Amino acid sequence: MTNDHVPRTAWYILAKSRELKHAPIARTLFGTPLVLFRDENGRAGALVDRCPHRNAPLSQGCVERGAVECPYHGWRFDTQGRCVEVPGLHPSRALPKFRVGSHAVIERGGWIWVFGTPGTEPDTEPFEFPFVDDPRYTRVPETIEAEGTVRDVAENALDVPHTAFLHRGLFRTAKVRNDIEVVVRRGKDRVEAEYIGEPRPSGIIGRLLAPQGGEVIHFDRFIAPAIAQVEYRLGDDAHLVATTVLTPLAATKTLIAAEVAFRLPVKVPTSVFVPILKPIALQILGQDLRMLKTIREHAEAFGGLRYASTELDVLGPHIDALLSGNDVDSASLGEVARIRMHV
Ligand code: FES
Ligand SMILES: [Fe+2]
Repeated sequence: MTNDHVPRTAWYILAKSRELKHAPIARTLFGTPLVLFRDENGRAGALVDRCPHRNAPLSQGCVERGAVECPYHGWRFDTQGRCVEVPGLHPSRALPKFRVGSHAVIERGGWIWVFGTPGTEPDTEPFEFPFVDDPRYTRVPETIEAEGTVRDVAENALDVPHTAFLHRGLFRTAKVRNDIEVVVRRGKDRVEAEYIGEPRPSGIIGRLLAPQGGEVIHFDRFIAPAIAQVEYRLGDDAHLVATTVLTPLAATKTLIAAEVAFRLPVKVPTSVFVPILKPIALQILGQDLRMLKTIREHAEAFGGLRYASTELDVLGPHIDALLSGNDVDSASLGEVARIRMHV
């Protein structure tokens, strides 16, 4: 399974707003090269990155008067993909009606969202990251590329049993095991797993947030088409939601656009927490990304990835169903499974 199974009629993140300045930037979406640039009013556009004249990559040109200029003969295109100048063409001649495929773009909350299909006016809006307008929450955005499909990155982000092994010592340990009950609920566009009976994670972040221990409220969610979300509540006022939008850059390449939103107990200042949280989060993510790359490369010798699953692989089958458009009817979440884990 590759990212060809991920729906194209959806919004995906291709860059942070601040990455797109005056020069055009190159990205891919479903393996197709795109060029992002800003018009004279600063509005972002996304075009298929191929000049119709002789196929040069527009992203290697520059932006002139709000239109991207091809590096070869200088044809310029606006954010709608219309050719607005052919240098050297006599003023008495009409401009040719050449067009480049153009994707709808919405810039919101510091992210550049691009619709998956060119030439369409979407009737949906991009996903809203939680707590964007809530001053009690601090939000930390980050992007990183993964060698793996949306499906594999999402399953990894929402998979609990690997944490005691791959991330040994960082947030769970394989030595101390607990009986945990997992309630799985499915809705039309999402699946969530609620972990009941989980003690506070024993790593440094858990100790900082809830020094006295206690139970944890923990949800893992997959929201169609490609959003993974982990939510933790510890003690009375520590609340952390890590939301990742997964963009299918190419068949087996995925962009992780993450926003961690958190609220802390009054006694833990953000200025102390972020410098501790970020390196640990990046270390955990690095371990995950290396493993995803390793298993993909390793499986090549065996003809590709193949899975043997147990009930501990709680969300994988639901992610597959949601990615292949298998809706359940009800709009509200309904319980579909209760699983007992000893992890
Ligand atoms: S190839 Fe783009 S202007 Fe000629
Ligand atoms: Fe992990």
